[in-house]
Amino acid sequence: MRKVAVLVGSLRRESINLRFAKALSRLAEGRMIFDITGFSDVPLYNEDLWQQPPAGVLRLKGELDAADAVLFVTPEYNRSIPAVTKNVVDWGSRPRGQNSWAGKPAAVVGTSPGAIGTAVAQAQLRAILTSCGVNLLGQPEVYFQTKPGLIADDFSITDDKTRAFLAGFVAQFADHIERLAARPTAP
Ligand code: FNR
Repeated sequence: MRKVAVLVGSLRRESINLRFAKALSRLAEGRMIFDITGFSDVPLYNEDLWQQPPAGVLRLKGELDAADAVLFVTPEYNRSIPAVTKNVVDWGSRPRGQNSWAGKPAAVVGTSPGAIGTAVAQAQLRAILTSCGVNLLGQPEVYFQTKPGLIADDFSITDDKTRAFLAGFVAQFADHIERLAARPTAP
């Protein structure tokens, strides 16, 4: 089964994006394994730190390199991505020649209480990831507006239409990963 590193751009214990990631993980059961990656041990990017890389950075790079794909679950902060998400992207892209993102299948989703459900942040994140060489899933786009009760305590989605839509996203993401895995490798 394909392993997906799930990067949630929030350090908050009660994060709605973490909750959303867990709901998607439930929907992926049996098809993909979602591993939610922690960042509390990843410092702010500083080129000097490569002289003696922090353990958290080596762990993060190791998890990215071992994963078959990456799922970004991003909050929206001031119509952009949180610093946490950008920091992880920057660490993953270095050192030069060891870009963990190159060719990696990935998808971007996110949730907020706002009506456009992180659409602006996601657009910016897609642009950044494209410049890093990530192989992004184009459709479906998932702009998930968090509403009370929509995700139950067991991380199931309570609304049938929403659940079916998100299950469709998970299926498209799985297909995207398989399509890219089946590419002929360069000689
Ligand atoms: C926000 N929030 C927010 N929401 C949104 O839809 N668009 C936005 O531009 C912003 N801007 C913003 C800035 C800052 C600094 C904070 C702290 C929050 C609200 C945000 O969606 C909400 O706090 C979510 O709960 C954050 O996601 P997590 O941490 O719960 O996953």
